[in-house]
Amino acid sequence: MSLRRAIFPGSFDPLTNGHLDIIKRSLPLFDEIIIAVLNNPEKKPMFSVEERCAMLREILPEIKNGKCALIVDSFSGLTADFARQKDAQAIVRGIRAISDYEYELRMALMNRRLEPNIETVFLMAAEEYSYVSSNLMKQVFTLGGRVEGLIPELVETRMREKLNKTL
Ligand code: PNS
Repeated sequence: MSLRRAIFPGSFDPLTNGHLDIIKRSLPLFDEIIIAVLNNPEKKPMFSVEERCAMLREILPEIKNGKCALIVDSFSGLTADFARQKDAQAIVRGIRAISDYEYELRMALMNRRLEPNIETVFLMAAEEYSYVSSNLMKQVFTLGGRVEGLIPELVETRMREKLNKTL
């Protein structure tokens, strides 16, 4: 039987507990999930691609469960091309609220046009993370607000280090 392989693409700048919730929900569905960190030179991220990948590699063993392999990789260019290169059958995306749907639907349809054999699989994030986004976490944290429980502790530590360096 062939391997059920999915990619979970995103910016992960930084990883949130919402992302982890989606990865946990994907574990029983696939044999292998590649967490694909987008290298987007147009954006000015808080963390470099290397830093984002390193955090993911440190944190993911904590949620690993069952047989599904979790792999961290980075990519540039089109998600659909990366998924094909990796021989993935699915692209996993999380949906938090109806407001995500329109953007996600457009992406899924475009990706399907580019790669008709690769399905996008939408998973619903837990309600408690329905308002959690990387951008909101960065903003609240940078302005001194509390984000514990919404991002992994390691990410919070790394954000504090970043902030202290730039002050
Ligand atoms: O975590 P994000 O920022 O919501 O992830 C968005 C991401 C990386 C999935 C999306 O921007 C993407 O796929 N970018 C790669 C370029 C691409 O394939 N664009 C066309 C999508 S239809």
